Amino acid sequence: MSEPRANSASNSPMSVPKFAASKGRDKKLTVLTAYEYTFASLFDEAGVDAILVGDSLGMVVQGKSTTMPVTLEQMIYHGEIVARAVKRALVIVDLPFMTYQVSPAQAVENAGRILKETGAGAVKLEGGVHQAATIRALAQADLPVMGHVGMRPQSVRMLGGMSRVQRDEEMLLADAKAAEEAGAFAIVLELMPRGVAEKITSALSIPTIGIGAGPGCDGQVLVSYDMLGLTKGFQPKFLKRYADLHSVALEATNRYLQEVRDGQYPDASHSHE
Ligand code: KIV
Repeated sequence: MSEPRANSASNSPMSVPKFAASKGRDKKLTVLTAYEYTFASLFDEAGVDAILVGDSLGMVVQGKSTTMPVTLEQMIYHGEIVARAVKRALVIVDLPFMTYQVSPAQAVENAGRILKETGAGAVKLEGGVHQAATIRALAQADLPVMGHVGMRPQSVRMLGGMSRVQRDEEMLLADAKAAEEAGAFAIVLELMPRGVAEKITSALSIPTIGIGAGPGCDGQVLVSYDMLGLTKGFQPKFLKRYADLHSVALEATNRYLQEVRDGQYPDASHSHE
């Protein structure tokens, strides 16, 4: 029997093999970040293919200026909440900065903790050629790992800024190929020219998930707070906002404050006899 198609109409849980086998199918893969129960349940209900508990939580949840301060314990805390909320999507948890860069053994130990303590289906790490030995060690330990090349926020110090489009085609292709060859089941392509992302996508047999990498990838990921318009003032070229929840929430909050101050809320219909 053939593997069921991975799309939002399917109610069967998304697994790593099913996600990996979705390459080249006519429906693109959908991925969103989530960090807590309410949004994770909502995205799962909407039928997203995978939920990434990204270390972007350092910026959008913790208000830090980079992802680098995020700890393993924090990723486990948020990963467990998200995995408990999700019934169908594949949950992928980021390995945060300095929890895998020291050695493949360090990565196996920490990725093992993430999968064991959160119930998530896979981990993600940043890097290609330089992380190939680590990706291989994870895959050989049966710890499913997603790669991430191009703009790598944990390497912001080396790359010189979070919003720098990565243009070294040869290096990007080598990184992506190294991640695939080492055993990554899928790979994020962040912030690169769309032509380069297209070439990488055709060169690989694993799905490419783009963010700021154009339409030629096998799927797309966005930081959900950006997609929903909660992160006011952040407007990179690639970002499309599908709602303006910042304005909606601000307007609702202002009305609540006004009604409480004026004694309009609670009224008889919102209180007990
Ligand atoms: O941390 C994150 O949210 C990510 C995505 C932007 C791909 O790595």
